[in-house]
Amino acid sequence: MTRNSFIVLTLFLSISLQAFSQKIIPVFTQHTALVFHVAPDSTLNILYFGTKLADSSEYSDLGNAYRQPDDYSKMLAAAYPSSGSRSLNEPAISVTHADGNNSLDLKFISAKTQQLDANVTLLTILLKDPVYDFQTELFYKIHFAEDVIEQWSSIQHNEKGKVTLHKYASGNLYLKGDRFYLRQYHGNKVREMQPEETLLTHGIKTLDTKLGTRANMFMPSCFMISPGKPSSEDDGEVILGMLAYSGNFRVDLEVDQNDNLRIMSGINNYASAYQLKAREKFETPPFVFTFSDKGRGQASRQIHRWARNYQLLDGKGSRLTLLNNWEATLFNFNEPKLAALLHDTKRLGVDLFLLDDGWFGQKYPRDDDRSSLGDWQANKEKLPHGIGWLIKQAADEQVKFGLWIEPEMVSPKSELYEQHADWVVKQPLRKEHYYRNQLVLDLANPSVQDFVFRTIDSLFIKHPGLAYLKWDCNSIIYNAYSSFLKEQQNHFYIEYYRGLYSVLKKIRTKYPLVPMMLCSGGGGRVDYGALQYFTEYWPSDNTDPLERIFIQWEYSYFYPALTSANHVTGWGKQSLKFKTDVAMMGKFGFDIVLHELNENELRFAQASVKTFDSIKYVIWQGDQYRLSDPQKNDVASIMYVDTTGRSAVMFSYLVNDRYGAGSQLPIKLKGLKPDSYYSVKEINLYPGKSGTLPETKLLSGDLLMKVGFNPDVKSTRPSVVLRIEEVSRR
Ligand code: DGJ
Repeated sequence: MTRNSFIVLTLFLSISLQAFSQKIIPVFTQHTALVFHVAPDSTLNILYFGTKLADSSEYSDLGNAYRQPDDYSKMLAAAYPSSGSRSLNEPAISVTHADGNNSLDLKFISAKTQQLDANVTLLTILLKDPVYDFQTELFYKIHFAEDVIEQWSSIQHNEKGKVTLHKYASGNLYLKGDRFYLRQYHGNKVREMQPEETLLTHGIKTLDTKLGTRANMFMPSCFMISPGKPSSEDDGEVILGMLAYSGNFRVDLEVDQNDNLRIMSGINNYASAYQLKAREKFETPPFVFTFSDKGRGQASRQIHRWARNYQLLDGKGSRLTLLNNWEATLFNFNEPKLAALLHDTKRLGVDLFLLDDGWFGQKYPRDDDRSSLGDWQANKEKLPHGIGWLIKQAADEQVKFGLWIEPEMVSPKSELYEQHADWVVKQPLRKEHYYRNQLVLDLANPSVQDFVFRTIDSLFIKHPGLAYLKWDCNSIIYNAYSSFLKEQQNHFYIEYYRGLYSVLKKIRTKYPLVPMMLCSGGGGRVDYGALQYFTEYWPSDNTDPLERIFIQWEYSYFYPALTSANHVTGWGKQSLKFKTDVAMMGKFGFDIVLHELNENELRFAQASVKTFDSIKYVIWQGDQYRLSDPQKNDVASIMYVDTTGRSAVMFSYLVNDRYGAGSQLPIKLKGLKPDSYYSVKEINLYPGKSGTLPETKLLSGDLLMKVGFNPDVKSTRPSVVLRIEEVSRR
């Protein structure tokens, strides 16, 4: 389902300024308030963002509580600061008018709310420049129960000629305080989501990417801000935010002269000054954020609920377990090999076989990563009977069949490149520079959009049994240039994503629920803009389970387990059990050679698929609690609790194997009901291994949460999975 289909206009309510007492515009979620104030000169300011007050009439008194120095411009707190007039801090919007003038001063005109459903309200605030015929609408989509707000803007003018948009943030927040801590992420291939937390100093800290595609390879747009002290899992204030957009982003965090913080998130304006025609609407992607006064954990659970309820494709649905062949065969396969893997898929007991890279290219067979992207026909030497035959083999084995594809890309050594060099993103007069020997197709060009749609559409038309796609995107964009856009190169990065999203929308209109994995050489593209169209993402090519504990832990603050595709592979020295336990914390899959497993390993793998089936809904739809942080402890521990608090699964791992390291102290559980009694049972045990946990009597939620439970993690038991079930109530 697409985002827009959620917009059911059940109730329309227009509110004039007079209706808001004392020019206050409050926005409430269940626990949070975002409060605007319209100043006497009609500047729209942010008065407050934080925990909701019990008495909402008191917001109008808040101004008196702050005795900070005069801000001179009277615009430091502006909700959407513009440049070129009084505001001299970082702008959310910056323009050159049709007459060459650089000044913009946006004044409050009106606000209206629309009730989209029982839980979601859309607040639209209209701002206009009194001098120029130029306006910006600010949108705040308020998810009451989830405490999540989506903020974006729509920019329009009616001037005589084009207006250049130099900057066009989606949203801006302004927080008063004296110190703010930023938790941000950086990474690279196989090193995704490395956290860093620092005190923001005065001036501007910018998080951004200019990579175009695979845009998150070095940095995602997600971050956390903690006012007052560094963030912690269960207490303190945390704002968690990210841009729902797959292209270049930019987050500006400015601590100003009065020590307050401005948070701006939007499309990166790098090489993207946009020429806006009269009456054209420039709509920015949503900046999604949530506030919690109970630490990072609560903030992440809020985002998870919002994502499952409103943003993800099939967020409340199920996901397929699978066997993938990438790690097992790389490009080296043929029909007999794949037939054996299809049989293994059945033997393992998973739902689907996923055929990865290497199945296509006739003139240039895809035998390594140096050719063939764009030539999406099955290679006749490897697959003489084509994809249809494989799907039929899969059906005979009673498993489903899925396919890897990288439709935005082209290899210089390909028929597509030979036929359509003008479809390729490259500088006409400069030497081509490659990332993984490939180039990016120009999705700004409607013919390319059509090609990408037809590539996917014909696969589904030709093979109605095709049950799954893995959509990869390995290259970043060097030498950005679209021969289609001619002299409008500044529109390239924006038009690329308009093109990509319109193709994805078209695919989803025709094939609404076929599961698709969002992959970008690992976690190079993970965002809620794309996840409207995809059921899951591939967090990293690094499948060493020890590394994955850290990578999955950090992703999990922003994306629910349901979306995290985790495979058991040959990476890492840990046991099959350890690998399996880690992969179960999400969308479970395998990428192993089954016949290399010994009898016990095979029995264990088969049993684990069944075990996963019995716990997957708690992991996917339950609340996630982080119990013991791998960055700080020898043992990492994570727990998923169903929303009634009656059923839970706890995963614990030894992440530091120094002498004597292990769970010496009990680990405090969370999210249970204090008055209930629970059974605690070890599951996913290796055949022949018995657990070391005492046969306990039932334990109260009270004890499990106040004292904790010891999973007995140690070097001989480096991973332990516990099933916790309510048995009775006090
Ligand atoms: C990068 C992906 O992350 C891998 O899982 C695999 O699909 C390869 N591409 C195939 O080229």
